[in-house]
Amino acid sequence: MHQRSTQRVKLGVNIDHVATVREARKGASPEPVVAASLAELAGADGIVVHLREDRRHIQDRDVRLLREVIQTKLCLEMAATDEMVRIASAIKPDLVSLVPEKREELTTEGGLDVLSHQENLIRVIEALHDQEIAVALFIDPEPDQIKAAQKVGTNFIEIHTGRYANVKGPAQQKNLYDIVESAKLATSLGIGVNAGHGLDYHNVLPIARIPEIEELNIGHSIISRAVLVGIRTAVAEMKALIHSAIG
Ligand code: PXP
Repeated sequence: MHQRSTQRVKLGVNIDHVATVREARKGASPEPVVAASLAELAGADGIVVHLREDRRHIQDRDVRLLREVIQTKLCLEMAATDEMVRIASAIKPDLVSLVPEKREELTTEGGLDVLSHQENLIRVIEALHDQEIAVALFIDPEPDQIKAAQKVGTNFIEIHTGRYANVKGPAQQKNLYDIVESAKLATSLGIGVNAGHGLDYHNVLPIARIPEIEELNIGHSIISRAVLVGIRTAVAEMKALIHSAIG
């Protein structure tokens, strides 16, 4: 049911690090909403932001404005807390991706441990579904976590590709195999599959070729390139690359 309908994987552009640059001076620029619109003009299929508990980059007003301005899909990454459920319920993103969050981490370091947090996840997913918001769980490519994700009622998983992205050679092949098998398992359980974290212009193709994956969420590599070549070029180049994965 969830095998992607066209042959082409979609691109969600994570613009958190536009806000990181702004927050370096606590000023008004660069404006993440402008970046989001330019990313859409260059072919982004969706805009992704992570509203962190410590508000280190994206701010509440960014999410509110993005909801009004963007014309594709808004995916809100957030921790499974009551505060975040309240915010999501008011803003109504198209998708919430639930992620684990630790204040001291540089970025999201591992997937959610669904097995150990089933009760809270069932509660949070039900609350979001009551608001007609679809939910993804950001998890490592592990069969037990995927089966638990189905039990707690998620619509999608987002496979954490960070381990794959951080290694090379045979270790990377092993991680790729785990991602392929996880995508197949999730699809067989009726769960949609997205993927992301650490994907860049050099490592994205094998992931983009996995037919079960509907959408890739990519941030740091695109925004890093955008600093040098502009966001429209950076997004268009990534979109062309992931589309070249098929045929
Ligand atoms: N998906 C999730 C759930 C994330 O937390 C992040 C990082 O915010 C990304 C995708 C994008 O990762 P990257 O910035 O490494 O491309």
